Amino acid sequence: MGARDRGLTPQFKVKDYLYEKMMRENGEDEEIGYWFPFWGPFLLCSKIHPDLVKFLLDKSKKNRKKALKTEEENSSWGSLVRTYGFEFKNPSVWFNSKFSKYISLYLEAAKKYNPNSFRHIIGRNPELDVDSSGDHNIIWRLDKLWVNFQSKTEYFPSHTHGGDLQFCITLQIPKEIQEEYLLNSNRVTSEGPGTTQWNYGEERLPFCIAQFAKLTERGDLMIWPSWVNHYVHAFQADVQRVTLCGEVTLYAE
Ligand SMILES: [Fe+2]
Repeated sequence: MGARDRGLTPQFKVKDYLYEKMMRENGEDEEIGYWFPFWGPFLLCSKIHPDLVKFLLDKSKKNRKKALKTEEENSSWGSLVRTYGFEFKNPSVWFNSKFSKYISLYLEAAKKYNPNSFRHIIGRNPELDVDSSGDHNIIWRLDKLWVNFQSKTEYFPSHTHGGDLQFCITLQIPKEIQEEYLLNSNRVTSEGPGTTQWNYGEERLPFCIAQFAKLTERGDLMIWPSWVNHYVHAFQADVQRVTLCGEVTLYAE
């Protein structure tokens, strides 16, 4: 757990219990815990079930193998950065039913975080009145799903995404990266090898937290507004970090 996470103590303990509960149960009605950093945009942190992690990692490896039969491993970021992403073809068919409860969790939690969270989504539908007090149904569409295999010295430069929400599931994070992180991380900001960092607003202003960094663990799920700037630091260990990422668009009805 990074230094920043410790600021959440009272709330995190409750959610930690929910994590435990989720790990014990494997039913459809499992309760899913979450927490979020003290910060600007709503960045939800949760865990997905270990069985689902295993399923997604197997699926991701197969997808990479299949893709490599027809195309060279190439960078989507140019020659300086060589982190390879493999997009799934028609992922909604198998992915949505497994993942919908996590999107529902985000939508529910975002409403608590800021009751006005969906005003801009409702405003896109000309048949709806953004100022009406009625509850609108928010539905989602998976626009894109891809898996990243990040090797040593590779990193993701600062970027944003399309759609409304972005999510990332950590499927594999070898212990060598965790060891490297423990030796080289910044104790104040939690930045270090293999960490993901999100930035919001002006940096280095007094009494203001403008960034959040975390070395994600296997099974960690992060969901955030897709306009939030973020990047992933490189590591030196000769291992691979695997993450499954996707873009989601929301609609109101
Ligand atoms: Fe990203």
